[in-house]
Amino acid sequence: MPVFQIRPLTPVDCAWVNHVLVTEWGAEIVVVHHETFHPADLPGFAAFVGEEPLGLLTYNISGNECEIVTLNSWHEGLGVGTALIEAARQVAGRAGCGRLFLVTTNNNLYALRFYQKRGFVLSTVRINAIAESRKLKPQIPLMDQDGLPIRDEIELEMLL
Ligand SMILES: CC(C)(COP(=O)(O)OP(=O)(O)OC[C@H]1O[C@@H](n2cnc3c(N)ncnc32)[C@H](O)[C@@H]1OP(=O)(O)O)[C@@H](O)C(=O)NCCC(=O)NCCS
Repeated sequence: MPVFQIRPLTPVDCAWVNHVLVTEWGAEIVVVHHETFHPADLPGFAAFVGEEPLGLLTYNISGNECEIVTLNSWHEGLGVGTALIEAARQVAGRAGCGRLFLVTTNNNLYALRFYQKRGFVLSTVRINAIAESRKLKPQIPLMDQDGLPIRDEIELEMLL
């Protein structure tokens, strides 16, 4: 696999980002901590080799905090996820943010490993938060493919 490039999202990417959201996350919206995001309207970064997309990260800056709203890599183990996180960390730092954070769910054991190995630490656990999210986004399954219940929000942060 040739070296991939990371570039910021532009309005041209909107339809593609929506497609990713529907196929990877069940709907064009993300619901976390009682907030609804439309990632296609958010800034972000994409990883490409030529025209082929390898990964996508979207983020939201609010006040002096930057939240990673979505992260996906379709060629795992090449460093795409790490490079996208690094791009977000740099943009957050340049924007003067004091904190980079994200929310994952209790079942996503691989993500918990991935983020902690990249310097994130657990900051909050919201027990049973997904029941509330499901009211706004019924596409969130009750269980994941391993049969684990999707139940709690786990927030991880990196202080900048
Ligand atoms: C989490 C995710 C973004 C990681 O992306 P990635 O491009 O594989 O990330 P990297 O290549 O930078 O690093 C992945 C790690 O797994 C290893 N890895 C992943 N797939 C591998 C494979 N097939 N073979 C060998 N190693 C692999 C990498 O070596 C690296 O290990 P390390 O953490 O010990 O350094 C990706 O797995 C993903 O999209 N998951 C599904 C969506 C998701 O859960 N997103 C996060 C939601 S909060």
